[in-house]
Amino acid sequence: MAERLAPQERRFTVAVLGATGYTGSELIRLLLDHPAAELVFVSSERSAGKAVGSVLPWLRNHPAAAKLTYRPLDELPEVDVAFGCLPGGELPGRMGLVAERAQRVLNLAGDFRLRDPKQAAAHYPASAQWTEPFAYYVPEFGELPTGRFVNLPGCMAATTLYALQPLLAAGLIEDDVVVDVKTGSTGSGRRISEHPAERSGNFRVHKPFGHRHGPEVAQALSDHAGAVPDLQFSTYSLDTARGIVATAYSRLRDGAGSLEVRRAYAAAYGGTPFVRFRPAPKSPQDFPMLKSVVGSNVAEVAVAVRGTRVVTVAALDNLLKGAAGQAVQAFNRLHGLPEVTGLPFTAVAP
Ligand SMILES: NC(=O)c1ccc[n+]([C@@H]2O[C@H](COP(=O)([O-])OP(=O)(O)OC[C@H]3O[C@@H](n4cnc5c(N)ncnc54)[C@H](OP(=O)(O)O)[C@@H]3O)[C@@H](O)[C@H]2O)c1
Repeated sequence: MAERLAPQERRFTVAVLGATGYTGSELIRLLLDHPAAELVFVSSERSAGKAVGSVLPWLRNHPAAAKLTYRPLDELPEVDVAFGCLPGGELPGRMGLVAERAQRVLNLAGDFRLRDPKQAAAHYPASAQWTEPFAYYVPEFGELPTGRFVNLPGCMAATTLYALQPLLAAGLIEDDVVVDVKTGSTGSGRRISEHPAERSGNFRVHKPFGHRHGPEVAQALSDHAGAVPDLQFSTYSLDTARGIVATAYSRLRDGAGSLEVRRAYAAAYGGTPFVRFRPAPKSPQDFPMLKSVVGSNVAEVAVAVRGTRVVTVAALDNLLKGAAGQAVQAFNRLHGLPEVTGLPFTAVAP
């Protein structure tokens, strides 16, 4: 019966694997109000048997939350789509079961992002347990994947990709690029060892070198900009729950100027609903910032050029455009639905 409906009228059965975590609970929040999704299964090992509303206070007032009960992942029923929100390394060993019961798998964890076997083994060693290919998919770039298995980008990698892709695709900048990415605490998931008092009022380095989103950015830029810069990728921890701000520092090539730069960003993002280029920032308020994106599925990007120096700033909500919102956007595109279905454009502030 459902097969005969147009995509806009059809409802797809969906499951969230790892649904007590930050990305999983954000997906529940989006999917409960998504007109084309029927949320039929949410997994948790530790909270199996409990109602969603009793585990997650921020979801307890949704009328449907009381009826939704956590179950162990092994009880996954047959569904159209399973969203993977498990910690890295947990899905690959369960893919046999998940692939049998889900028509399509959209994985938010990093397991199948890196194609290079050496890099994958170094950063996601458990990924070798599953050998069928996953497509790496960023909704704004590249073709719609045709296979059943899709891996979404990392939150910091996506922010960096949005900042740099237009400059590199248009060949406007030199090879030497520095990116620093500042991220809120939910980026590390619900179970972290850092005491909140130590994060509170602090701003500190997370990783000056060697973050696993570095090779992901290089791979994504190679695929979608046709260029891999000599990239210095460093990460920092912000004292805030949600949000990422990335700053990319580069130098213009001979002959390139601010007009070409603005045109490149406008061309790259003019047709996309959720990556918004801010063409002429004049005051600090005009630049991307946490309070213009947190709570929304929007990534903002702006650029400042002085002489040959280029400073690009990009910001997004790591749990929405960096995770659950990105996954719903991909779900919409993959199922022929309007790309914006069920996704917020406005931020939550102050
Ligand atoms: N946080 C972000 O900003 C962000 C952004 C993009 C991508 N991601 C990726 O998304 C994934 C989830 O991140 P998160 O921040 O939501 O993590 P999280 O808050 O730690 O949540 C992890 C979830 O996985 C479940 N889980 C943990 N260990 C499990 C196991 N051994 N078997 C089955 N279920 C298990 C937990 O359920 P129970 O403990 O209740 O059983 C919980 O629901 C990670 O791979 C992360 O890298 C995160």
